[in-house]
Amino acid sequence: MIPIKPKNVIWSDEQWQAIHEHGKNILVSAGAGSGKTAVLTERIIEILKKGVSIDRLIVLTFTKAAASEMKERVRSELQKIVSTHPELTNNLTYLDQANIQTFDSFALEIVKKYHYFLDVSREINIGDKVLLDLKRKEIINDVFNDFYESENKAFYDFINTFTIKNDNLLQQYLFQICLGLDLLIDKDKYLESYIANYYNEVVYNDRLTEYLDLIKFTVERIRKHLRRIDNIITDEVLVNYSERLKDSLADLLASRTYRGFRESVDIKLPQIPRNGDIEEKELVRRERVKISDLLKELKSMLSYASEDEIINELKSTKDHASVIIKIVKEVESRFWDYKKKINLFDFLDIAKLAITLFETNNELRDYYQSHIYEILIDEYQDTNDIQEALISKISNNNVYMVGDIKQSIYRFRNANPEIFKNKYLDFKASNKDVAIDLVKNFRSRKEVLDNINLVFNKVMSLELGGVDYDDNHSLKFGNLAYLKNIAPQDYNFDILTYESDESDLTSVEKEAFIVARDIKKKIDEKYQVFDKKLGTLRDAHFGDFTILASGKKNFETYKKVFEYFNLPLVIHKEEDFIRSNEIYVIKNILRAIHSLNDLQYYKDNFKDAILSLLRSFLVEASDKDISLIFLGDIKEGLNLRFPKIYSSLINISRKVENLTLSEILGEIYKEFDIYYKVVKLGDVEDKENKLNYFLAKFSEFDNLNFTLLDAINYLEEIINSKDLDIDIGMKSEIAKDAINMMTIHMSKGLEFPVCYYVDLSVRFVYKELNDRILFDKEYGIIIPVFREGLKD
Ligand SMILES: Nc1ncnc2c1ncn2[C@@H]1O[C@H](COP(=O)(O)OP(=O)(O)OP(=O)(O)O)[C@@H](O)[C@H]1O
Ligand SMILES: [Mg+2]
Repeated sequence: MIPIKPKNVIWSDEQWQAIHEHGKNILVSAGAGSGKTAVLTERIIEILKKGVSIDRLIVLTFTKAAASEMKERVRSELQKIVSTHPELTNNLTYLDQANIQTFDSFALEIVKKYHYFLDVSREINIGDKVLLDLKRKEIINDVFNDFYESENKAFYDFINTFTIKNDNLLQQYLFQICLGLDLLIDKDKYLESYIANYYNEVVYNDRLTEYLDLIKFTVERIRKHLRRIDNIITDEVLVNYSERLKDSLADLLASRTYRGFRESVDIKLPQIPRNGDIEEKELVRRERVKISDLLKELKSMLSYASEDEIINELKSTKDHASVIIKIVKEVESRFWDYKKKINLFDFLDIAKLAITLFETNNELRDYYQSHIYEILIDEYQDTNDIQEALISKISNNNVYMVGDIKQSIYRFRNANPEIFKNKYLDFKASNKDVAIDLVKNFRSRKEVLDNINLVFNKVMSLELGGVDYDDNHSLKFGNLAYLKNIAPQDYNFDILTYESDESDLTSVEKEAFIVARDIKKKIDEKYQVFDKKLGTLRDAHFGDFTILASGKKNFETYKKVFEYFNLPLVIHKEEDFIRSNEIYVIKNILRAIHSLNDLQYYKDNFKDAILSLLRSFLVEASDKDISLIFLGDIKEGLNLRFPKIYSSLINISRKVENLTLSEILGEIYKEFDIYYKVVKLGDVEDKENKLNYFLAKFSEFDNLNFTLLDAINYLEEIINSKDLDIDIGMKSEIAKDAINMMTIHMSKGLEFPVCYYVDLSVRFVYKELNDRILFDKEYGIIIPVFREGLKD
């Protein structure tokens, strides 16, 4: 039974239900800022008050920052009531160890705890992605080499079809396929039955139907443009023209079959007449261009002589697919052995291990199903298939999920919003489980909501974004406190614009300046923000501001600009920590040292390594010195001008053989006085942490039997990879007394009084469209049929 709602609580009726409903699976679906996380947190407190201890709850959040925010909320609520509820003291004590965490850390904890059932070590851990990727690529290369040696005919056909110069690109695609396969719950079974599942008459016919649908869709687009012409024109000359245009396309528009389309696609569109209304004619001309482009598209789609030919083409990729499957199987088996040997796995492996654990161990599953009181999941729209499978193993009509389908932007990172959507529909129709909608938004001011509705209404549709942004989905203002506390200023959206001009500043720098100045101005002018805790307006301070960006690549610029303005800025970017000057210096010293012991390597690397080293903050050599060194023998020049550097390199290179990698790095720090020089650059603690991080990383390499060259490759990979996801175990707390800057990804579910959304000039990434061999959950391995080979 849901208790009667007392008069003085802040919760709306729906929220009250969402807090107190129990005894079934519950899905709360509601827009941003409607109180989903607030309700979930309140629910935790209510459950604890019932006497359920906190270790019987599993609470899963989307990011570490969200987990730590939630713990803080629970802590402060508990502290408020613990004097009247002394029995809750234990929960406060154990809050830090409670299962309020991301899905990934939850899965890891389970696997560690029950490692003995899984035949893995207790020390099992998440390996760093760079390291694992590097190894996997190396294994792909090894497997390719073994295939070359085996003189397997199918393999040679595959290579000859897809390569011109070398197999680099092909290896990259194989790597991508491996990554795609990681998302499957049962990869082995999938690979085993791949050929049977994807190469059969049913699939061929499905594909053919889809292909025909695509053709029909394109023809419909032509029809749309014709209609548009009809809607625009009034001039009789052009009306006549429109009729002729339609006549020329009539056969195509009337076709229904592949053959029909193919036979009617060769069309010469009539020329636009010379006379006629000029403005209308221009509009007609534009539509004609679009029709003509679509015809070209159609023609290329209809280049197959017949449907049979299409099917034959599909069939013709079968042998290649078999080779790919064979390679992938071998790669994955070796990769697994490697991971097992070094005891480092990736997140998805760990989640799958956890699933296996419960699948093979009924007792443990029963224990979880009865011991766990409730599993609460925030941001449920971003759940992926593997996470869902794990939850289903340990749950027992006790899952509480909150989410918002409109916020599912992680399809590309495995999230499967269909899970949420289908569950919502099922629960709505069921009388066992329940779906609750929360209607009002309590986070934002009316001005903000109006503007969001305006934009989303225009850009969102069932096809784009998965929902029709109608009245049901639009955000409704609910936080009356904003209305009661009136400030002299305007809270509307501000669009900050700038002109492109001749100045030396890049657009990113300009944006950073604009944002910095605006924050400074708001602080100086005592901009009023509403403090939800105090329930009143107050002067804004730095912690009220946040800068959101779609990617991380411009963070560095903001750091510099904000330093210049003397504004405290905390950047939430873990790899920023790693990919800094120090890593370049370390890499180049290692390259120089390795050069001194390997003649071939010396030829390709020494010059470049020394040049970079001389230019770095460590040496800061002048251009003159550098050119003098490079005029003659580099070693001699170096010895002459920078004898200390030279002798250090020589000294270390002589010892390399007898030292571990971490010892070598230690020597480098010592010989080059790196601690001192780096610390001089400022931010002592940060810099020291960084140097120690690398020492620890190099010890890890020692355990993996890495060579010096492996270590160099690793640093190289970090420097080159664009989208690093390295977890270096830093806390992700939001700064309360500094401006925060983060990606949209990280900001999920958090809130700040003033937000800046920057980098709007950045374009969409259509990366996958350029890939030639792809993996897709539905279509499998997509292999192009072409004969010219992959151009490197
Ligand atoms: N009934 C209420 N009255 C006043 N404020 C509320 C109420 N419910 C929630 N809030 C406040 O509204 C804000 C938004 O709540 P919350 O962060 O829980 O929303 P959400 O639905 O989780 O949003 P998101 O989709 O972004 O995760 C919070 O500051 C919360 O304290
Ligand atoms: Mg939330």
